[in-house]
Amino acid sequence: MNLPASFGFLLKYAPFSFLTTDVALTMLILGIETSCDETGVALYDSDQGLLSHALHSQVDLHAEYGGVVPETASRDHVRKLLPLASHCLAEAGLDRTDIDGVAYTAGPGLIGALLVGASAGRALALALGKPAIAVHHMEGHLLAPMLEPEPPAFPFVALLVSGGHSMLVEVREVGRYRVLGETLDDAAGEAFDKTAKLLDLGYPGGPALAKLAEKGNPERFDFPRPMTDRPGLDFSFSGLKTHTRNLVLAQADDDATRADIAAGFQRAVVETMAIKCRRAMKATRARQLVIAGGVGANLELRATLKREGEKHGWAVSYPRLAFCTDNGAMIAYAGCQRLLAGEHTDPVIEARARWPLDSLARPGAVSAGHTGATA
Ligand code: KG4
Ligand code: ZN
Repeated sequence: MNLPASFGFLLKYAPFSFLTTDVALTMLILGIETSCDETGVALYDSDQGLLSHALHSQVDLHAEYGGVVPETASRDHVRKLLPLASHCLAEAGLDRTDIDGVAYTAGPGLIGALLVGASAGRALALALGKPAIAVHHMEGHLLAPMLEPEPPAFPFVALLVSGGHSMLVEVREVGRYRVLGETLDDAAGEAFDKTAKLLDLGYPGGPALAKLAEKGNPERFDFPRPMTDRPGLDFSFSGLKTHTRNLVLAQADDDATRADIAAGFQRAVVETMAIKCRRAMKATRARQLVIAGGVGANLELRATLKREGEKHGWAVSYPRLAFCTDNGAMIAYAGCQRLLAGEHTDPVIEARARWPLDSLARPGAVSAGHTGATA
């Protein structure tokens, strides 16, 4: 989606000194994340690592509606983004003129919310005369474990499970992604959120359902393991949700039963994902599995896949809990890899609600180092 043509024209033909500068060896990157209901900002230095990060969650704002209200989300990003950026700079003891480049999430996500980060990131880069890069939100999630003290080694298989996506991806290196399987209907996080709603757990549902599941007996009710009885790496969670709805309608009139349903549902999702991960690891012969995205914060999922890793001899990595869900640090890191390789996005404000992960190229591989949000 483009901003009014005149603004795009102005940006496109303004003189940019950075377009001709040599590729830098080290860079300080400001990362901006506004794809959904969290405003995230971070400063990542290619030499020193993560210097600071800040996050504002809109949970309180959307809670009374039981889900994200897109226009409310956009307006709140407008209010919070610049103060968060100033906070990050102050925390790192830096000034905005120290920034060497700006990385912002350009998609996929809510278009209005994305445009806030894309406009602010682009404008800031323009004002500073520095390059900017449009980052794919899921590439950010996928690379988030690289921010940990012991980052995973390439190649690896990534289980990317968030509110909008469920995918298994073969990652040869940054920018070389092959989607092995994805959901045919609901994303894993969406299934958690909708099931939580059935159990009256409100929004955001995933963490609340996981908490209730801790008190329940996962064996009391039978739940299907969808699409595990046939070959393939795709997921489908909508049947599991319907199964749960029927169970809730028929049974859930006491707290213990609701906890047992939550535990059984969570176990079914986790075991289904574990089965698909085993298949993906076998098919690719990878020795490293990465779990990322909001559902990667689920402790039962982390523990189950860790056990699978020990059993089968794979290493299993995941980001710290705060970097499983949306954050600015993963965007700063992903953008830094591309900016360091000399890549940057043309000075036009663009965002994409949909953006296939495997359409990305290796950093710097796009001709003349220029990319659009659509690259
Ligand atoms: O990655 P993320 O922050 O946003 C998207 O890119 O979508 O993921 C948010 C999703 C939500 O659906 C939320 O319910 C789910 O991640 N989630 C969890 C847990 N924490 C967050 N699902 C299950 N267990 C959790 N502990
Ligand atoms: Zn996300």
